[in-house]
Amino acid sequence: MKTSSGHPYRVLIADDQADIRDALRLLLKREGYETQGASSPAEALAAIEAREFDAVLMDLNYTRDTTSGQEGLDLLPRVLMIDGTLPVIVMTAWSSVEVAVEAMRRGARDFIPKPWENNRLLAVLRTQIELRQALRQASRLEAENRLLRAESRPTMIAESAAMQPVLDIIGRIGPSDANVLITGEHGTGKEVVANTLHALSPRASTPMVTVNAGGLSEGVFESELFGHVKGAFTDARVDRVGRFELADNGTLFLDEIANVPLKLQAKLLRVLETGELERVGSSNTRRVDVRVIAATNVDVNAEAAAGRFRQDLLFRLNTIEIHLPPLRERREDIELLAHHFLRNYAQRYRKTISGFDAVATQLLHEHPWPGNVRELDHAIERGVLLATGPQVKAADLGLRAASGAAAKLEEMSLDDVEHHLIQRTLSRYDGNVSQAAKALGLSRSAMYRRLQKHGLE
Ligand SMILES: Nc1ncnc2c1ncn2[C@@H]1O[C@H](COP(=O)(O)OP(=O)(O)OP(=O)(O)O)[C@@H](O)[C@H]1O
Ligand SMILES: [Mg+2]
Repeated sequence: MKTSSGHPYRVLIADDQADIRDALRLLLKREGYETQGASSPAEALAAIEAREFDAVLMDLNYTRDTTSGQEGLDLLPRVLMIDGTLPVIVMTAWSSVEVAVEAMRRGARDFIPKPWENNRLLAVLRTQIELRQALRQASRLEAENRLLRAESRPTMIAESAAMQPVLDIIGRIGPSDANVLITGEHGTGKEVVANTLHALSPRASTPMVTVNAGGLSEGVFESELFGHVKGAFTDARVDRVGRFELADNGTLFLDEIANVPLKLQAKLLRVLETGELERVGSSNTRRVDVRVIAATNVDVNAEAAAGRFRQDLLFRLNTIEIHLPPLRERREDIELLAHHFLRNYAQRYRKTISGFDAVATQLLHEHPWPGNVRELDHAIERGVLLATGPQVKAADLGLRAASGAAAKLEEMSLDDVEHHLIQRTLSRYDGNVSQAAKALGLSRSAMYRRLQKHGLE
C-alpha cells in the first residue's frame, strides 16, 4: 500500500516485546509498509515528534507483567496531542476488552486482540489509513474552497465612462497598503469599493473588519475601536478587544467617518500615525498593522473647513480619495446593474424571470435614482417579488414616474421635502386629511400639526 505520491505508508509499532515488533515488521513489510519500532512510551512519543506516521499499532502494556493497560491509556492522549489525526490502533489481550473500550474512548480508532489474525490486522490498518487520507483530502478541499470564496471578489458592476477612473484607481491602489477615503452619496457603492480594495490586497486572507461611526455614543465607540480592560468603566466587566486589534494585519473599514467625535479623532490620528494604541483603561501600549479604508457621504473637506473634522486626520485618511459618482451620472450602468440584481433575486425567490418589459426598461433609464444603486437594488427586488409573468413590468418596480420634483429632491431641505410630500399626498386623496395621514403613517393630530407648520390647512 502506497501514498498517492508513491511513498510507502509508514507505521509505528510500539510494543515492549522485541519478538512482537519483529513479527509485525515482517508482516507489514511484505505488504509494502515502512515500519519503525518503539519499545517504550517515551520512544514512541519521540518517534512521532520526529517524523510523520500514517498509523500507529500500539501495545497498551510496556512493563513486564503489567496487564492494566494504564501505560498505553496514558500514552494515547499524548500521541494525539502531537498529531490529532493520527490513527492509533491498540493491541490488547482478549481478556481486557474493557481496556480496549477505554482506549477507544480516549481516541484510539480501533483495536486488535492479541494474538492477532494477520488478515484482520491488515484490514483494520488499511481501513484506518484510507479513512485518514479521505479526511485529509476533505479538509484540504474545504480549505481550498475557503480560499476560493475569499478570493471571489464582490461583484462590482461598472462599465460606464464615469466609473473608469474609479476602476483605474482601484486596480492601482487595491493591492497597496495606502489608506483610502471613499466618498459619494448614499447607496453609490462605497462599501462595495471597500470590499473590492480589500479583496485585491495581500490582506485578503483575513476578513475585513467594519466599524460604523454613525449612531454610536462616544464612549461606546471608543471601546469599540480600541477595546477596553475590565473595570475601565462601570459596564466593563471583562476585557474587550477593539476593532483595531481585530483588524491587525488586515483591513479596517471605518464607515461614516464624518461622525467620529472630535475627541476620538485625536486618538484615531495617533493610531494612524504610530500604529500604537492602548485599550481604554490600560496603559499597556499595543502595536497594530492595519490598513484603514474610510467612507463618508458627507463633504469632509467642508467639515474640516468648518472645524468639525480634524484636517490632519483627513490628510491621514485620504492618502487616496475615491469619489463615486451618483447613479444618475452613469446611466449606462443602470441596465447592467438591473439585470445583475434581477438574476440574484430571481434565484433567491425561485422565480423564472427573463427581464424587464419595454416600459419598465424605459422607466429604469429615466428614473432619477436619488437613492442610487441601493434604490435600484430595492426596486428590482420588489419587481421580482411582484412580477406575475416572465417579465418585470413598470408597475412592479414601485417607482414614481420620473418628475422634475423628484429629480431635485436632494437639493431640497428636509422641510421642503415634507411640505412637498404632504401636498402630493393630500392631492392624491383629494384633500382627505384622514386618508392622507394614514398613507403617510401619521396620526391625525400629527398630520394637523404638520399642515399648520406648512400652511396647508
Ligand atoms: N457597482 C456595483 N455593482 C454591484 N452592486 C452594487 C454596486 N454598487 C452598489 N451595489 C449594491 O448596492 C447596494 C448599496 O451599496 P453600498 O452599501 O456599497 O453603498 P454605500 O455607498 O456604502 O451606501 P451608504 O452611504 O448608504 O452606506 C448594495 O447592495 C451593493 O451591493
Ligand atoms: Mg455604506
